[in-house]
Amino acid sequence: PSRVVIDCDPGIDDAIALLLAYASPELDVAGITTVAGNVGLDQVVDNALRLCDLIGGAAASTPVLRGHAGPLARGRRQPDEPVHGAYGLGGVELPQATRAANPGHAVDWTAGEVRARPGEITLIATAPLINVAGLLHTHPGAGAALREIVVMGGAAFAPGNVTPAAEFNFYADPEAARYVTESGVPLRIVGLDVTRAALTPLADAETLIADGGPATSAAGRMLRHLIERYEWRHGVRACAVHDALAVAAAIEPGLLEWTEAWVTVECAGEFTRGALVADVHGRSGHAPNALVATGVDADAFRAFMLSRLLAAYGT
Ligand code: BDR
Ligand code: CA
Repeated sequence: PSRVVIDCDPGIDDAIALLLAYASPELDVAGITTVAGNVGLDQVVDNALRLCDLIGGAAASTPVLRGHAGPLARGRRQPDEPVHGAYGLGGVELPQATRAANPGHAVDWTAGEVRARPGEITLIATAPLINVAGLLHTHPGAGAALREIVVMGGAAFAPGNVTPAAEFNFYADPEAARYVTESGVPLRIVGLDVTRAALTPLADAETLIADGGPATSAAGRMLRHLIERYEWRHGVRACAVHDALAVAAAIEPGLLEWTEAWVTVECAGEFTRGALVADVHGRSGHAPNALVATGVDADAFRAFMLSRLLAAYGT
């Protein structure tokens, strides 16, 4: 299996991403690192620990590390719409965590892990890129020792979800996102335009709830909350599960279509701060530095996610 570190801010879709990762024998989750994003740092750490208990098995002892509590450079704006609910998991209350986070900082822990296994670790980043940029910046050599970074973020070919141009994970810390895109580490980007093309319908949430297992019903209830928010905004009874698609892309890249591009992140624009810029036609003269997802087999992803969750956690 591929050894992965998941850097996340759970968050409903982060939670589903974690459930999917542990349901997938292709991945060996070395650690879960956390960063402020959908909710504040203390809350994402607590959510990650509770989710690990819910998942059980290997997750119950996976290291969980605290990362950065805020952006590296300029100020960030929290989303003004309670997409993930007050505590970040759509009002689903999981039992109190049975352990605390591991000692140490997420960034230093990841650096140690990457150094110990050069060329082996894939970093799956489903949150603002503050920890990832911190890793590449403060630990020279870490980037070269990473196998790949798979990022959920940006909206290269479609409107954003925080501003007309910017997606949440990139908008939360554009300087960090830019640093990561220009780092030279092999990069795959799964943006909003693609995650929004792979919606999970209410029927799948209901199937999970009806299964009745602790993890399946929690997943189903979280998804139902997200679908309610999505319906309010987009008028469909379905939702994008952004971060889970990034995990799926790490497992089965063939579920998506990819194009090579030079990518960067706009940090100065009056209206476009945080926008992912993807030079798919080589206008900039820069060599490609990323694979950017341009399409997804939505039915295949839907079946993949639902069947894996039911097989791993179903009653
Ligand atoms: C991203 O922002 C967060 O709200 C989600 O968890 C996802 O990582 C989508 O823009
Ligand atoms: Ca996230």
